[in-house]
Amino acid sequence: MKAFIFHKKAKAEKMKLQEVAKPIPKNHEILVKVKAVSVNAADYRSMQLGIVPVKGIFGADVAGTIEAVGSAVTRFSVDDDVVADLSGQGFGGFAEYVVADEHAWVLKPKSVSFETAASIPMAAVTAYQALQKGNLREGHKVLICGAGGGVGNFAVMLSKLSKAEVTAVCGLRNTDIMRQLKADHIIPYQTTDFSKETGRYDLILAVNGNYSLTDYKKVLKPDGVLVIVGGSLSQLFKSIVFGKLLFLGSKQLHVLSAKPSTADLQRIIDLVESKEIIPHVDRVFMFHQTIEAVDYVKEGHSRGKTVIVVE
Ligand SMILES: NC(=O)c1ccc[n+]([C@@H]2O[C@H](COP(=O)([O-])OP(=O)(O)OC[C@H]3O[C@@H](n4cnc5c(N)ncnc54)[C@H](OP(=O)(O)O)[C@@H]3O)[C@@H](O)[C@H]2O)c1
Repeated sequence: MKAFIFHKKAKAEKMKLQEVAKPIPKNHEILVKVKAVSVNAADYRSMQLGIVPVKGIFGADVAGTIEAVGSAVTRFSVDDDVVADLSGQGFGGFAEYVVADEHAWVLKPKSVSFETAASIPMAAVTAYQALQKGNLREGHKVLICGAGGGVGNFAVMLSKLSKAEVTAVCGLRNTDIMRQLKADHIIPYQTTDFSKETGRYDLILAVNGNYSLTDYKKVLKPDGVLVIVGGSLSQLFKSIVFGKLLFLGSKQLHVLSAKPSTADLQRIIDLVESKEIIPHVDRVFMFHQTIEAVDYVKEGHSRGKTVIVVE
């Protein structure tokens, strides 16, 4: 099969399209013909940090069709369409085929396309777990910083579904998407500073960008919660090192470490199937353009999700 293999020690192009052996599923594993795979920050950030999957193949969010099952597999059959976040299974999606434990996968509904299904797992589950961590409730005022990307889009949709009042901080080019997603207030970060209105929010999700912890703290209500999801490495570093000290008192800070969860993924897939949320796929690349797709997401300005279709 063809796969994009990451070569840590290569000087120039680290990901190369190569012919490698098609994997064979062990007892509890399934072999999936990859139809679509989406790109996440986890792909390029792991590459930058030199954290390479065992087989050297990145790509976590996979949707495809089962071609073979291991002898002990009970949950799936050949020809089932499935979707998964394989970041906890050694990645492997930037390839024509991938094997992973049957418990990593959920069934893809027929009405959801492979492209849409691949856009869901990591971004949507991260957004869901961030809102859980922040104890989101109906009527809460939520600020989502970095609402234009994959996690941010899902955070806006899931917050609206919970009947929260959503303020989205995004770039000017993403304000149209925020209107489509029914954000109540839109703050374009190039022209407006969200930190002017003090004591306003019950919950802040810091998804992207690089803002000061004191600005976030200032705009939280006295019992408000800040959940650091992502953004610049300096924002993450400051949150881990100084966060606890700065948030002594009633306002809370949590640094999220999202975990793949088939239960959470199933919840989101159900919402997509019932059209309660509609994932926004920004750009679709073909398999041979995988390096281009990763470079595009790495620039940090993708809108919604970026998906690769495997021919
Ligand atoms: N904690 C966890 O467990 C976990 C799990 C998954 C992901 N993450 C992290 O979450 C973050 C978001 O992931 P993602 O997949 O959503 O990334 P993404 O899709 O690449 O996000 C791109 C978006 O970020 C926006 N953005 C860039 N700079 C901004 C700024 N200063 N203010 C507001 N928005 C800004 C861009 O909007 P413009 O083009 O308008 O600038 C673009 O729409 C990443 O840092 C990732 O590492 C964390």
